[in-house]
Amino acid sequence: MQSAKSLSDKLREPTIEDGSAMWRVARDSERLDLNTPYAYLLWARDFAATSVVAEVDGVVGGFVSGYIRPDAPGTLMVWQVAVDEACRGRGLAGRMLDELAERTGAHALETTITADNPESIALFSSFARRRGAEHTVADLFTADVFPDGGEHEPELLHRISPLH
Ligand SMILES: CC(C)(COP(=O)(O)OP(=O)(O)OC[C@H]1O[C@@H](n2cnc3c(N)ncnc32)[C@H](O)[C@@H]1OP(=O)(O)O)[C@@H](O)C(=O)NCCC(=O)NCCS
Repeated sequence: MQSAKSLSDKLREPTIEDGSAMWRVARDSERLDLNTPYAYLLWARDFAATSVVAEVDGVVGGFVSGYIRPDAPGTLMVWQVAVDEACRGRGLAGRMLDELAERTGAHALETTITADNPESIALFSSFARRRGAEHTVADLFTADVFPDGGEHEPELLHRISPLH
């Protein structure tokens, strides 16, 4: 069997045809809030310029979905990031973030992370270090604003800037 390290990969903007694969990667992560397939199709159409998919040997094995905040045009908000388990640990997620930072020219990156997700915190901390940027963490969506009666973990806002 081929090892994960020897697979070839390519980063590119998603197309509508990638929407269902993005949904599958999100579902298989068993970590992300899974949105409807429609949401990923819509994202792949309308926010392709601020999103990226990683093709590993021709198959989508990871994605980052993001948008530029309408109220803060220099800020890239990363909504979801996931990499298939078989493709983890070889820098794919970090490279997808680098690709988006370069492609969008954003001066700040924001994302929200729950405190129980160390691999995601490690990913964004590493990105901030690579950019020599400041990395701050603050409350954003506290448990009480979610509809499930406080069962959702609080989402902390991670802000990384300046990116260049
Ligand atoms: C988080 C996730 C996207 C990371 O993908 P990945 O391709 O394995 O990440 P990378 O290989 O690019 O690693 C980036 C950095 O994070 C670190 N990291 C990644 N996984 C880690 C883990 N499980 N434990 C500790 N550090 C970890 C790496 O060491 C690397 O740091 P470095 O650059 O200082 O060496 C992946 O684990 C995943 O899909 N998890 C499930 C979905 C999820 O939690 N998404 C984030 C929600 S906001």
